[in-house]
Amino acid sequence: MANRSLWITSCVWLLISACTFDNEEETFPSEDGEVGCQTANISYLTDVLPIVQANCYVCHDNDNFNTLGNGIDLEGYDDLKIYVDNERFFGSINRDQGFSPMPRDAPKLDQCDLDKIKSWIDAGALNN
Ligand code: HEC
Repeated sequence: MANRSLWITSCVWLLISACTFDNEEETFPSEDGEVGCQTANISYLTDVLPIVQANCYVCHDNDNFNTLGNGIDLEGYDDLKIYVDNERFFGSINRDQGFSPMPRDAPKLDQCDLDKIKSWIDAGALNN
């Protein structure tokens, strides 16, 4: 009897946490295309960092930049800002002529991610 109610409690808990997780995802703008792309008041911490973490840290974080990232460290605001200021960051992800296309050996970032990053840079690339 005790085992059975423990089992039921676990199931209920799983259901509740699954639903909570779903709801949480819906509150973030995602792959809705450009229509749903939110480009106002872009923050380094909540918008830009996750994009860089997911697409660039594999080669350009503190542990790997020397072996995989050609000595280019993009981990943390201060290090990223160097490449924002010399325009190589946006040039490479936007695949402008004269820059190595990034992320290397992977598809171009989503247009929405590029728009957000552009907006963040245009607003002064703040550590916000
Ligand atoms: C698979 C490893 C890898 C990934 C992932 C990767 N890079 Fe690179 N990156 C490199 C290597 C290697 C170089 C140097 C060789 C070259 O320029 O192609 C480089 C060069 C660069 C440069 C200098 C480019 C230039 O033209 O001066 C920048 C800026 C850069 N990466 C930014 C990024 C950003 C931003 C991301 C994520 C969106 C990213 N990289 C993802 C490996 C990677």
